[in-house]
Amino acid sequence: MSTRKPPRKPLIAANWKMYKTPTQAKEFVSVFLPLVHGHTRDEIVLCPPFVDIATVLAATHDSNVHVGGQNMHWQAEGAFTGEISAAMLAAAGCTHVILGHSERRQLFGETDETVNQKLHTALQHKLMPIVCVGELLAEREDGKTEEVLLRQTSKALVGIAADAARHIVIAYEPVWAIGTGKTATPEMAAEAHLIIRSQVARSLGRELADKMRILYGGSVKPENATTLLNQPEIDGALVGGASLDPQSFAKIVQYITF
Ligand code: PGA
Repeated sequence: MSTRKPPRKPLIAANWKMYKTPTQAKEFVSVFLPLVHGHTRDEIVLCPPFVDIATVLAATHDSNVHVGGQNMHWQAEGAFTGEISAAMLAAAGCTHVILGHSERRQLFGETDETVNQKLHTALQHKLMPIVCVGELLAEREDGKTEEVLLRQTSKALVGIAADAARHIVIAYEPVWAIGTGKTATPEMAAEAHLIIRSQVARSLGRELADKMRILYGGSVKPENATTLLNQPEIDGALVGGASLDPQSFAKIVQYITF
């Protein structure tokens, strides 16, 4: 397998989902920051619930740790009870945002079309979007993985201009591996990443596709991080459960490079 070409800085993001109060978030950061102090090999991002963002930003100020949202609306503002805008995330100090997570797609009616609209809006507000794609277990068993990944990737990228696209990050998260303890084998992940990258090349050109970071997510833990993250096609990780504990997330960030 080839090495990363051109070099792509790995991104390790914590998706806390609906866990942690502001007090718990602050406790996490106070333990986590010293453990990753001076770590520059990877871009580190914490994506807490919205009400924790100000606390986490204040606690990580002047550090090597970035903060992102877990979701946002595609409209600039309006009567959308319970929603949050890209401008609000950016003004709060967020630099990243997760879009189209499978839990949003499955439980909250997120579609390929809304993911695409959100991607446009996030880029307009200079947020670095982490766009999630991934097949269901039934789709994998039916041999539809490639079709699903090509569809989700191409639809997410509709109308995106090449110069804005260089900030996009994609996360391959097979739905059957999320929170289940089942991890895609490095070979399965690498194959999926190649499929996604081939679609990015068709949508945005080969040069951009080669530069785009594609993360893996789904039961990433300290025990499997090194194997997964040494795959040349895997440019980082989106971590749920194992990111809730500062020691465990720090161990993932400190995977060993072969
Ligand atoms: P997990 O979640 O690490 O708990 O499987 C990953 C995700 O949903 O982003």
